Amino acid sequence: MGARYAAYRKMSKYDLKITGGMVANLSETFEADIAVCDGRIVAIGKDLGDAGRVIDASGKYVLPGGIEAHCHIEQESSSGLMTSDDYYSGSVSAAFGGNTCIVPFAAQHRGQTLKSVLELYHGRAGPKSVIDYSFHLILSDPTDDVLHRELPLAIEQGITSFKVYMTYDRLIVDDTQMLDILAVAKKHGALTMIHAENNAMIKWMSDKLVDSGHGAPKYHALSHPRTAESEAINRAIALAGFIDAPILIVHVSTEAGARIIAQARYDGRKVFGETCPQYMFLNAEQMDLPGMHGAKLCCSPPLRDRASQEEIWRCLQNGTFQVYSSDHAPYKFDETGKLHAGPDAEFPKIANGLPGIEMRLPLLFSEGFMKGRITLNHFVALAATNVSKIYGLEHCKGSITEGKDADIAIWDPEEIRTVTAGDIHDNMEYTPYEGMHITGWPVTVIQRGNVVVESNELMVDRGAGEFVRRRTIDCTGMPGRLAPELDPAKNFGVDFNL
Ligand code: URP
Ligand code: ZN
Ligand code: ZN
Repeated sequence: MGARYAAYRKMSKYDLKITGGMVANLSETFEADIAVCDGRIVAIGKDLGDAGRVIDASGKYVLPGGIEAHCHIEQESSSGLMTSDDYYSGSVSAAFGGNTCIVPFAAQHRGQTLKSVLELYHGRAGPKSVIDYSFHLILSDPTDDVLHRELPLAIEQGITSFKVYMTYDRLIVDDTQMLDILAVAKKHGALTMIHAENNAMIKWMSDKLVDSGHGAPKYHALSHPRTAESEAINRAIALAGFIDAPILIVHVSTEAGARIIAQARYDGRKVFGETCPQYMFLNAEQMDLPGMHGAKLCCSPPLRDRASQEEIWRCLQNGTFQVYSSDHAPYKFDETGKLHAGPDAEFPKIANGLPGIEMRLPLLFSEGFMKGRITLNHFVALAATNVSKIYGLEHCKGSITEGKDADIAIWDPEEIRTVTAGDIHDNMEYTPYEGMHITGWPVTVIQRGNVVVESNELMVDRGAGEFVRRRTIDCTGMPGRLAPELDPAKNFGVDFNL
């Protein structure tokens, strides 16, 4: 803070005031000014008094800063490949896309302790992230020590969610390991995120396709059958439901999978669902490109067909998916990324994942809210509020409320842009959304009262973001029941330590 500004600030009632905008939260939209002091929202209303700085938001929407809850940043894949974004470029790109908080993964590879993994990721994020951050752990090696000592410790330190994989040879956990992880999560108030795809079906299909000469990138989509997703979702829900542990099925790509989630929620299971823009805005036909260019669109679960896009939209509209994330997993189209196994690698050896952290919210604002597919309040829910509630951030983030962090994105509904890779701030040379016309953009992004993005410029230094300790997962109001065999009243008093 400059000396002149500091002096003026002392004379003013507030540090910052955002005036004249249309404010929206989960269930209300209203015209108001917002006043900020010491990084927090301290007043919402009219005629609030003077401030050191005033931002005029007339004609704009003043919304909670986005929370991106599924992104891979400065993370080694299970085969050792590093994402192209580090915590600087990844967080800058997130900020330009209207986000004020990210929750990337801290990935445990086999043989690693959680302590060493978390130290590594704190070291990566702390000096670089320009916006606030937390981590989800990825668990690939649930030893007794990890389960019963390290995981409870990590949860105590505010890492209250972790992802497990039902596929990928180096990450997969079997059903017994899954039950062990779910039981610890349940006991300590954490949420298990599940990558649900049947490993055997994918391997069987992949081998047959490659053996018959169908190794080009576009066959990646065919190699991950829809049933691989629905079988695994079904199994994950059965395992979690058995012990009544909360789960979140990430990156759902099929209506069949979504229906299983919807049915489970109807049946009183503690299940959340997430989808991603790629399943709403892209389809597998687009992978039919010359040479290896289809590799740019290889992700797992894969892109589906045009009909699926509409089905996923419908499941977002009807609330089956409470979370909408980018699954930003950026790998360049070269030997450091997509083509690490060679310029003609067959699809099983192509790095999986798409970039999209900056486009997640503009796509939804433009094609969802501006086109009348979802309300502004539903946009806010998907951008921030639902994530804050589900992932233990509600005490400080996710809505425009007195006492919460002044994390705010000001959206201009009249800003029209054509997407092009050169304008995106990630460390990638392509975007899957190239050429799309977008209406509405987050023109000013504010984190704890500091302007992070303004007039297309980054206004903060590396490391401006802070680690956020997340709270345990609150399942209040979600029905659920243990399987009768686990109920001590019905099982001869056996204690399963749940
Ligand atoms: O293809 C994808 N989604 N890669 C990222 C890793 C994951 O499973 O989310
Ligand atoms: Zn995944
Ligand atoms: Zn992912």
